[in-house]
Amino acid sequence: MKVVAFSGSARKDGNTALLLKTALAELEAAGIETELVQLAGKNIHGCIACYKCFERKDGRCAVDNDCINECLEKMKDADAILIGSPTYFADVSTETKALMDRCGMVSRANGDLFKYKAGAGVVAARRAGAIHVFDSINHFFLIGQMIVVGSSYWNIGYGREKEEVAQDEEAMKTMRDLGTNMGWVLKRICAE
Ligand SMILES: Cc1cc2nc3c(=O)[nH]c(=O)nc-3n(C[C@H](O)[C@H](O)[C@H](O)COP(=O)(O)O)c2cc1C
Repeated sequence: MKVVAFSGSARKDGNTALLLKTALAELEAAGIETELVQLAGKNIHGCIACYKCFERKDGRCAVDNDCINECLEKMKDADAILIGSPTYFADVSTETKALMDRCGMVSRANGDLFKYKAGAGVVAARRAGAIHVFDSINHFFLIGQMIVVGSSYWNIGYGREKEEVAQDEEAMKTMRDLGTNMGWVLKRICAE
């Protein structure tokens, strides 16, 4: 069993990464392999709407000059996918949007590559707009026939400076519960 988590923050090792690491720690404790991929500093671009993925149907993005195909392979290999984003103007970050648009389109072009995998969104914010970001990420999972895993609250944490979210105790608990719930679901999905 493997879980891959993507942090779509433009800054490395910030609040989004810390929230994801907190959920992943619970999964590791349950004996599940995890990987955190931080998109910060990586070469990543938006979808160019060429629709070549629908012509080729080879499970890859036709624009093969950035990190997207590597991310796609990690998604395909995993049993669960976490997507974390900071809140930027009440929406997902550019990096998160590029990841979802490109991987989501390739998935659809190939008969829903992530069907029956588990998924969860995680959001960092300073003050407002996080629930919209959470909803946006969930659209990626739900259109892909994935199983969205919940927690004891919506998966949102508050803080502005790097790792300030560690002081948001409810967010930390929400992330630990998310990790526990994801592990519970995975053990059942993967037992099939
Ligand atoms: C371009 C930009 C736009 C932002 N817009 C919002 C916003 O709309 N609402 C909010 O609460 N915080 C906003 N923030 C603050 C970040 O969401 C917040 O600092 C978050 O913790 C950053 O996560 P990170 O440490 O993973 O980068 C914005 C930050 C940036 C850089």
